[in-house]
Amino acid sequence: MSTKFELKNLATGKTTQLDVMSGTIGPDVIDISHLTRDQGVFTYDPGFMATASTESKITYIDGDAGVLLYRGYPVEQLAEKSSFLEVANLLIYGTLPTKAQLDAFLNSIMRHTMVNEHLLRFFQGFHHNAHPMAMVSAVVASMAAFYHDSTDIHDPRHREIFAHRIIAKLPTIAAAAYKHSLGQPFVYPRNNLRYCANMLNMFFAVPCETYAIDPVAAEALDLLFILHADHEQNASTSTVRLAGSTGANPYAAISAGVSALWGPAHGGANEAVLDMLDGIGSAANIDKFLARVKDKDGGVRLMGFGHRVYKNFDPRAKIIRGMCYRVLEKLGKSNDPLLELAVRLEEIALKDEYFVSRKLYPNVDFYSGIIYSALGIPPSMFTVMFAIARTAGWVAHWQEMVSDPHKKIGRPRQLYTGPTQRDYQPIEKR
Ligand code: CMC
Repeated sequence: MSTKFELKNLATGKTTQLDVMSGTIGPDVIDISHLTRDQGVFTYDPGFMATASTESKITYIDGDAGVLLYRGYPVEQLAEKSSFLEVANLLIYGTLPTKAQLDAFLNSIMRHTMVNEHLLRFFQGFHHNAHPMAMVSAVVASMAAFYHDSTDIHDPRHREIFAHRIIAKLPTIAAAAYKHSLGQPFVYPRNNLRYCANMLNMFFAVPCETYAIDPVAAEALDLLFILHADHEQNASTSTVRLAGSTGANPYAAISAGVSALWGPAHGGANEAVLDMLDGIGSAANIDKFLARVKDKDGGVRLMGFGHRVYKNFDPRAKIIRGMCYRVLEKLGKSNDPLLELAVRLEEIALKDEYFVSRKLYPNVDFYSGIIYSALGIPPSMFTVMFAIARTAGWVAHWQEMVSDPHKKIGRPRQLYTGPTQRDYQPIEKR
């Protein structure tokens, strides 16, 4: 049954009928696209608290029930049974690939792992202590200057080559950023290795000795990447869509997404959680720390807690928490003091009225840094790892938007509260 909303201007009595659109699951959406034409007003929703910015078939979240589906598949099932590249393929193409499709995809990703040598030289221009996210964002943007054979966004094959290229090359660029910060030589990709094993090799191998890739570490990374692969219209994905909606070069749009992800309210939270745990130091200091969090004037947040959409456990956090114990045990680090501190902090916060009443639960970033740390990845690289995984989602959303025949440039409006028109004053009269 189709529902309609009626909006009435109580001053003029003028009414507007608003259509209601229904998705396959999730709340209905009121179509306000004719509102300005009919009533001469805009809607106001800072932070998009109640605004669906697009229609999408990729990812579904039920924040109250703690549900996350990629193309309809529960993230728990994918985490248990799939691999990151299969999930990337699923996000981009919409269905689980057949064996032949997956093999072709893996082969294509493998064949695109190297980056242009000139692009590698850009790293020499960065100071050794540049943040890796700054380097990755800049180098991804500069890919727009290299791959001219795949940037006709109206050509489906070009779009596909772009998708494979960015997923394949981001680990190489991330590793180059890491090696630059260490002052070590870049390690080239090895195409006989799987995606995450290759990444570990590029991160940790050095020319003077043999590096043994730990399969436990590669498996843990792959699982973390599945959990981070997509999250519907989050800030960085919306940024990719908005930048891409202008017809901008797709590498530039992904670079914009990397920059948006970096903020501590978004992907940068994983690095901030480790800083926070370091700052707390020991369980004895938790109460003092939480008192600062609850004092709104202090400007301190419990990083890795809270989410715009989840008002219940983030399903990804549940999986990562369990994974922390397994991975640390397998790596022989089961008595990790950071993990013990994080578990205690979570326990105390989950019983605290402040967090309970606001429905603040651990999110995906609360435990992920503990695993990255155990794998030897430094905190400054945590958000880069998130970016590698989220590239799959960014690409899927960019593809969905660009191939939509009804797409429009993203162009929000505003409530203007600045000065009204006034005349220019010569400098001596100001
Ligand atoms: N610590 C303390 N108080 C919090 C926190 C927190 N982590 N998160 C929310 N609150 C409080 C907030 O002060 C507000 O209280 P009040 O109603 O009294 O003013 C209430 O809870 C609602 O918060 P909000 O900021 O209006 O909620 P939001 O939906 O705009 O923000 C968030 C969501 C994720 C930005 C926020 O929860 C936060 O800053 N969390 C810490 C950073 C973090 O872990 N980010 C990672 C998010 S998950 C991964 C990702 O997106 O990349």
